Amino acid sequence: MLRLLPGVDIEGIMAPLSLSSVLKSGNMKMPILGLGTWQGTNEEVEIAVDAALAAGYRHIDTANCYGNEEGIGRVLKKWFDSGKLKREDVFLVTKCNPTHFRPEHIEKSMDQSLQKLGLSYVDLYLAHNPVGFAYKEDGFVIVDGKVQPDMNTDLVANWKVMESLVDKGKAKSIGVSNFNLSQVKRILDVARIKPTNNQVELYLYLQQPELVQFCKDNDVIVCAYSPIGSPNTAFRKNIQHPMTDPVVLEIAKKHGKTAVQVLLRFLIQYGVVAIPKSSSPERLRQNADIFDFELSDEEFNRLKSLDKGPAGRLFGGTTGIFEDCVKHPEYSLL
Ligand SMILES: NC(=O)c1ccc[n+]([C@@H]2O[C@H](COP(=O)([O-])OP(=O)(O)OC[C@H]3O[C@@H](n4cnc5c(N)ncnc54)[C@H](OP(=O)(O)O)[C@@H]3O)[C@@H](O)[C@H]2O)c1
Repeated sequence: MLRLLPGVDIEGIMAPLSLSSVLKSGNMKMPILGLGTWQGTNEEVEIAVDAALAAGYRHIDTANCYGNEEGIGRVLKKWFDSGKLKREDVFLVTKCNPTHFRPEHIEKSMDQSLQKLGLSYVDLYLAHNPVGFAYKEDGFVIVDGKVQPDMNTDLVANWKVMESLVDKGKAKSIGVSNFNLSQVKRILDVARIKPTNNQVELYLYLQQPELVQFCKDNDVIVCAYSPIGSPNTAFRKNIQHPMTDPVVLEIAKKHGKTAVQVLLRFLIQYGVVAIPKSSSPERLRQNADIFDFELSDEEFNRLKSLDKGPAGRLFGGTTGIFEDCVKHPEYSLL
């Protein structure tokens, strides 16, 4: 029997989990493992997405501000033109640029993404962050080396525009990212079209149990970003890398798996979607090789107990170029 939080709906739950397992929100079906692409260049993601599709991944995560949608679009075109995959076989997620997170600019960001991706619709369109950035057509408004927030972000007004993108057929479903519990609730309270997803930082040391339970209770799938602790990014706080945690290493050894595979398997059994990023075909294949073993109750609970709460947050309490964004009224990740 799989250990999952109550309320988790995994298609084919009695069958073994696989790379084609999905979590459902209403009619929306989201593959449980996807490929992250943040910090991958167009050239890197072309190689990675091609290798990922060949390995059986069917879920790709990108964002307008990652600057790599063109590379992803080129690979998708190649696969669709060859007839090896159809559009409906791939679950493509992208996100509104925070510089465009205002009612009058959201659709522009969406249209740019669709054009770069070479698609007529995305499967899931996310509000990237409750904190909007000052509007600029390209790049960020920078003052004294710091990205400037848009202090007037109106989450509810923006959600109405997100809903219109579903009406127009540009997004099959819509969701949010980096929203805390009260922000998700605010959207749910007014939504004509409900958010299907909340993509948040979630990994071994930041398990966000209250937010996860609230989302599950409200049919919102949680997607874990930085699921292996984003080991190589400069923005990351100086917190122990979860892949060096002695408990993870011990469990990995017992199953003949890598630490990263245990970290990802833990999230799948926790009942969330995970989107590990890799630009390496070898590593992304390893990251998908997590469906031939299962964590026991005892192992799962040991990993569960390693949650550090907010102290485990990798990207909160922002310093450096995003320091001014902390002043935004919707900022809550301190
Ligand atoms: N919504 C948001 O605000 C938000 C924020 C952050 C991230 N995300 C999304 O979530 C995705 C994942 O998060 P992330 O990129 O921050 O972190 P992550 O997936 O936890 O870690 C990615 C890093 O781990 C390395 N890696 C991957 N597989 C590995 C393996 N098997 N062994 C050792 N190292 C490995 C990768 O290097 P190589 O590429 O060299 O393999 C990369 O540097 C992002 O790419 C993005 O799509 C969203």
